Amino acid sequence: MLAELATFRDTVIANARLEPGDKVVDVGTGTGLLTVAAAERVPEGDVFAIDVSVDALEELRRGSTAPNVFYFVGGAEVLPLVDASVDVVLTRSVLIYVDDKAEAAREFFRVLSSGGRVSIFEPINSRNTRLSKVVDFGALQPQVEEWERGTYEDRADPMLNFDESDLERMFRAAGFVEVKMDFRRGDSELGAERMLTVVGAPGRLSLLDAWKKHFGADVAEQLAAAVRAAGPIQRSWPQLYLTALKP
Ligand SMILES: C[S@@+](CC[C@H](N)C(=O)[O-])C[C@H]1O[C@@H](n2cnc3c(N)ncnc32)[C@H](O)[C@@H]1O
Repeated sequence: MLAELATFRDTVIANARLEPGDKVVDVGTGTGLLTVAAAERVPEGDVFAIDVSVDALEELRRGSTAPNVFYFVGGAEVLPLVDASVDVVLTRSVLIYVDDKAEAAREFFRVLSSGGRVSIFEPINSRNTRLSKVVDFGALQPQVEEWERGTYEDRADPMLNFDESDLERMFRAAGFVEVKMDFRRGDSELGAERMLTVVGAPGRLSLLDAWKKHFGADVAEQLAAAVRAAGPIQRSWPQLYLTALKP
């Protein structure tokens, strides 16, 4: 997991082509994966760490000694920055939480100065390998497929209601040019127990808990047994690196 995070961080930072003195904003900084790396690379510049979570910002501040990091509570849809005030917008795994992603793209455009760059990473969860394709659920297969359809087609779920072409369209519509997409399949293997119990994001249910809620405890346990019998699950977890330029 840490190695994977390091790859995400290093790729987003490399794609941003940071230059000495750049003013950089990390939207949805969390505990500062990108902020800390950016602050090291532009010691003469400034890094604005923005998050909706005060707790995350406080944790970052406790752990960071960088003199060039500034902390702002704010959301991607209304950035607490004036127009044309930064050179680079970074973000990783944040748009998946944002209801109005087009508005976020417009905000990124607004705060960037001319020639400014955006470098983002987002998982494209709507293209994840469906479990029903890699696990034999026996007689329960149709029920699992129906549950998956309902889950993946929920247009109200910001984690699932978009793909890479939606993001490309939104960034172009916001005014960005040279919108480049590096789409990766993200093939990986996940242990059955982790698959069942991991909570993907704060406030979300684990797979097992989601099944319990939807199917009831007995059926959920049968489904879990099928997952365990399948052993480590091979799946694709597609990911997008997107870069763009404000003309
Ligand atoms: C998965 S974490 C990613 C953190 C960090 N970018 C990283 O690479 O480790 C998602 C972060 O986005 C923040 N977040 C969620 N919705 C947001 C929004 N609308 N605007 C800004 N940040 C948001 C959360 O508080 C959380 O810190």
